[in-house]
Amino acid sequence: MEPQVFIVGAITLILLVQILIYLALSSKTIYCQLPNMRFYYHGKTLQNYERLPIIYVITPTYTRYVQKAELTRLSHTFMLVPNLHWIIVEDSEWSTDIVSKLVRKLKNEFDFHSITQLHSVTPERYKLKHGDPSWKYPKGVWQRNRALEWLRENLEDLDRDGVIYFADDDNTYDLELFSEMRYTRKVSVWPVGLVGGLLVERPIVNGNKIDSFNSMWGSKRPFPIDMAGFAISMHLFISHPGANFSADRKIGYLESHFLGQLVKSWDDLEPKADKCSKVLVWHTKTLNPALNGERKLIKPSSSNVEW
Ligand code: UGA
Ligand code: MN
Repeated sequence: MEPQVFIVGAITLILLVQILIYLALSSKTIYCQLPNMRFYYHGKTLQNYERLPIIYVITPTYTRYVQKAELTRLSHTFMLVPNLHWIIVEDSEWSTDIVSKLVRKLKNEFDFHSITQLHSVTPERYKLKHGDPSWKYPKGVWQRNRALEWLRENLEDLDRDGVIYFADDDNTYDLELFSEMRYTRKVSVWPVGLVGGLLVERPIVNGNKIDSFNSMWGSKRPFPIDMAGFAISMHLFISHPGANFSADRKIGYLESHFLGQLVKSWDDLEPKADKCSKVLVWHTKTLNPALNGERKLIKPSSSNVEW
């Protein structure tokens, strides 16, 4: 073969391969691939994360202006946690476009596949009316129960050594929290920041047992713990097939009523986060945005915009 023909042929081949590689990569933007990610785990990077018990994180969520931002922030935290299965439950009669799109994006672009999207609407009678105080009815009840129902329906395929955690969509979570709850025998507990009128609401630990709670709000509750402050083992959940949340209990007794179905006393609670001396979750609240400028517009600022 003539050398010129060989060189031209080789260059054409190289160009062709480059074009093919470009086309393959540009068709799907991959920001990260979980199997290769360096997960945070007790401050070390982890290789064999497949062997860790799965954490089933249940998040009730409802439509409002900040919803997409809240869920985006949350997803970025959960992406950094190995073996986490995120169960998002919308307070809606159907799956909404906003949440479905986000879930699709997480699955397609970020390779975050362990997501289950469910929905269950809060009955009208338990919805806050204009002017009602925010504590009048408990929130997220039907949604958390829907997730528990899903877990029970799918037990066969789930990790029986796993853990269940109820993570509201507006709180802030330190990655270390997930390492702390990963090995829960029955119920593990830890402090929660910025809740109940305190900087830190927490169990007070004496030796390895819980002596008391420092809560100021509803201190007579059998378990004065916020939803963000405990996780339960799948084993305990399986052995209590009727346990769920109820909207008809005394105001503020949502967590106590749920935990009361699973354990008898504080002796069954396992203190985590250095004997409950570290805050790894904050009960943050996002302000409703002031949108008074919108009223002056003929077309909403979001028209023709993906927002
Ligand atoms: C506190 C606790 O931290 C919650 O776990 C508890 O459910 C709530 O009180 C209660 O009163 O029942 P708070 O910040 O007042 O939390 O409640 P939100 O964050 O507004 O709501 C808790 C969860 O329920 C959130 O994930 C939120 O998205 C969801 N939610 C709220 C709904 O699904 N539907 C609603 O109408 C309102
Ligand atoms: Mn909240």
